[in-house]
Amino acid sequence: MSDGGRPLWHGRLGDRPAPELMGFTASLGIDRRLGPDDVTGTEAHVDMLAAVGLLDPAEHRAVRDALAQVRTELESHTFTFAPGDEDIHTAIERRVTELAGAAGAKVHTGRSRNDQVALALRLWVRREGRALAAGVHGLATVLVDRAGELDDDVYLPGYTHLQHAQPVLLAHHLLAHAWALGRDFDRLRDALARAEVCPLGAGALAGSSLPLDPDHVRRTLGFPLRFENSLDAVSDRDFVAELLFVIALCGVHLSRLGEEVVLFTSEEFGFWRLDDAWATGSSMLPQKKNPDVAELARGRAGRLIGRLTGVLATLKGLPLAYNRDLQEDKEPLFDAVDTLAGALAALAGLMRTVSFDAERMRAAADSPFAAATDLAELLVTRVVPFREAHATVGNLVRQALERGIPFGELVAAQPGLGDEARSLLQPGAAVRRRRSPGGAGPQPVGAQLSAARDLLRRQRAWLESAPG
Ligand code: ARG
Repeated sequence: MSDGGRPLWHGRLGDRPAPELMGFTASLGIDRRLGPDDVTGTEAHVDMLAAVGLLDPAEHRAVRDALAQVRTELESHTFTFAPGDEDIHTAIERRVTELAGAAGAKVHTGRSRNDQVALALRLWVRREGRALAAGVHGLATVLVDRAGELDDDVYLPGYTHLQHAQPVLLAHHLLAHAWALGRDFDRLRDALARAEVCPLGAGALAGSSLPLDPDHVRRTLGFPLRFENSLDAVSDRDFVAELLFVIALCGVHLSRLGEEVVLFTSEEFGFWRLDDAWATGSSMLPQKKNPDVAELARGRAGRLIGRLTGVLATLKGLPLAYNRDLQEDKEPLFDAVDTLAGALAALAGLMRTVSFDAERMRAAADSPFAAATDLAELLVTRVVPFREAHATVGNLVRQALERGIPFGELVAAQPGLGDEARSLLQPGAAVRRRRSPGGAGPQPVGAQLSAARDLLRRQRAWLESAPG
């Protein structure tokens, strides 16, 4: 509030707002996180006002000094909020006016909170989106590093329908998760590129009669584009929805990894063992070692999906241009970014320290039936049509199970298979034979590992490059 506790928009309305109104409409508790970005946007705005002659040099200096002081106060947590500050934007304008006097009252020239808020939020997204991408990159790096440490004899059953299908190298399995994160990173980068449009100068909805120069602001802030349509500039929250989709999808990927951690560290599987630092105990059962981190990574995906659907529902009925409903974009966005960042860091810690029980995984994968497809494919090389070969081997499996005869014996006795076929049943043979590009055996996984490292290098270079 300004002017003896009245809000900045007091001119039009006679009575003071009801206390309950301020309680219901204020957003300061949430949007105070935009403080530094609001200062950055306001600095660019007043620089433009000075450049077009709407602020004289002395006024410009006074306002710039006040903004510098506000930034320091925000950073050092000494900024004092007034009881009537409705949001961070009005709080900052109030403080600038306190510090800069009459010049401060000119800060909002040619600007509305509608384009101001859109700008601050885009600046926030540009910075925090990159930090999130660094988190995605961090977890992907852990997975690729762990895959790179593994020998060619570390394999586990590969599953379809959660039934043993064919053995796969553990490195292959870990890299599958890394590729999903690699796509999340690229999607994030793509969404951030679309957020880099400077909306300042749109005013409340229609631009201004003043000689504003929105391109000046755009250049100052290093945005590649400025808005083309003022109505769109103040009502567009696509960049929020897109980011929330990328976050939700990444959350789903983390959830799937979390689910496997839960399964593979269970006594029934026993494939992986959590480091004690990344496991939890039970308050009642002394023997328990629980995968709470993985479970929460899985559980929080639900929350992230909720954040996306919530914002889409908020947007769907809105007529152009600004509506106060749009204030509801920030809480879900901030929460989703924080939640995903936390889950990425936690899973990175867990996956960096989890240990792998190679023997247990091998024992599970070395069922003679693991070679069933290879046997059918051996028949194919002997010009048996695949469908017929499939039925032949399927019959042998059924007989082995029904009559309790070792599968190897039946295979050796089968016309058209014989001794060569027996060698396919040796432990580890099935995974070594997965040679086709992108497949689960040592040769293609070696190539895949270097492709994954290349991707991580390219993505690292982007993280280190300047935005814009
Ligand atoms: N706190 C509000 C928001 O985040 C500020 C915009 C208010 N604009 C208005 N025309 N009432 O959207």
